[in-house]
Amino acid sequence: MTAITGHITAMKRPGEIGVHSLDHHALIAPDLAKAKDFYQAFGLDVVTTGNQLELYTPGNAHCWARIGESGKKKLFYLSFGASPADMPTFRARLTAMSVDLLPAPKGFESNGLWFRDPDGLLIEIRAAEKTSPTQKAPFVCPSSPANERGALPRKQTPAARPKRFSHLAMYCKDMDRSIAFYSKALGLRLADRAENIISFLYGIHGSDHHMLALLQSNGSGLHHSSWDMGSIGAIGLGAMEMSRKGFEKGWGLGRHVLGSNYFHYIRDPWGSYAEYTADMDYVPVDRDWKTEMHDGEDSFYLWANAPPDDFARNFEQE
Ligand SMILES: [Fe+2]
Repeated sequence: MTAITGHITAMKRPGEIGVHSLDHHALIAPDLAKAKDFYQAFGLDVVTTGNQLELYTPGNAHCWARIGESGKKKLFYLSFGASPADMPTFRARLTAMSVDLLPAPKGFESNGLWFRDPDGLLIEIRAAEKTSPTQKAPFVCPSSPANERGALPRKQTPAARPKRFSHLAMYCKDMDRSIAFYSKALGLRLADRAENIISFLYGIHGSDHHMLALLQSNGSGLHHSSWDMGSIGAIGLGAMEMSRKGFEKGWGLGRHVLGSNYFHYIRDPWGSYAEYTADMDYVPVDRDWKTEMHDGEDSFYLWANAPPDDFARNFEQE
C-alpha cells in the first residue's frame, strides 16, 4: 500500500467568493513595434496575433497581456480569473451593486462578465484556471562553497527571463472608492495601505501580498506591470541587459517594505514601467493578511537609490 505523504495546497477558500487571479491585462500602445522591442528586451516572449501583441513568459502557454495599437498609450482593461462555479454569484453581486454589464470589446470576445470600475476602466471577470501562485513563489540566493567560483563569466551566463506575471499597479481617482469597489465586486482584500498614496490588494484563494496596487491620481492609468524573476541575481542581470539595449531609465535595485519584494523598475517608452521583482510576501489560502495603515515615507522602500522625480506621474491623464 502506498502511503500518502506531503501536503496538497488547497486552491480555493471554501464558502467565500473572490477572484483568484489577475488573469491578464490589455494595453493600447501608439506603436506596436516599439512595444515589441521593449517587452522582448525585457525577456518576455512577444507573439504577434493579427493586429495585437501577446505577452508570454518562457515555457508557459498562458497569455499574460495583450497590446493593441492606437493613438495614445493607455491601460485598456484588466481581466480577473474566477472559479466557474462562482460566476453566477459574481453576476448577481454586480447586478445588486447596479453595475452595468457590458458586451466584450470588439476583438476581445469572451464569455466573461464585462463592466467598468468607478474610474471607467474596463474590467472582466472570467471563468479561468488559477494563474496566481498557490504557495509562496520560489526565491533562490545561491552561494558557492569555499574554493569554488560563484559567478560564471558573462558570456557563459544565460539571459535572465521572467518566470511569471506577478502583479499590476494602476492609478485611481479616489482611493477609498476604488478599495471599496474592488473589495465588494471582486472580493479582493486590502493588505496594506500607505496614507492616501498607495494601497495593496490580494486575492483570498492564495495570493501574493498584492495582485493589484492602487495609486492615488486624477484618473486611471498603468503605473507598472510586475514580473517575478526568482532571485536578486536575475533582477540584476535583467536590468543590465535592458540598459545595454537602451532602456536604462528606471529605478532600482531596491527592496520595498510593503510586499517586501526586491525590485528594479524599467521605464517603458511611454513613461510607465515594467518591474522585475522577487520574493514578495504571500497570503495563504487559509489566512488573512493583517491589514495596516502605514506612513508613506517609512513604508515606500527599505533600501534603494532615490526614485525618479516623476516616478508616480500619471502620463495617461495628461
Ligand atoms: Fe510592483
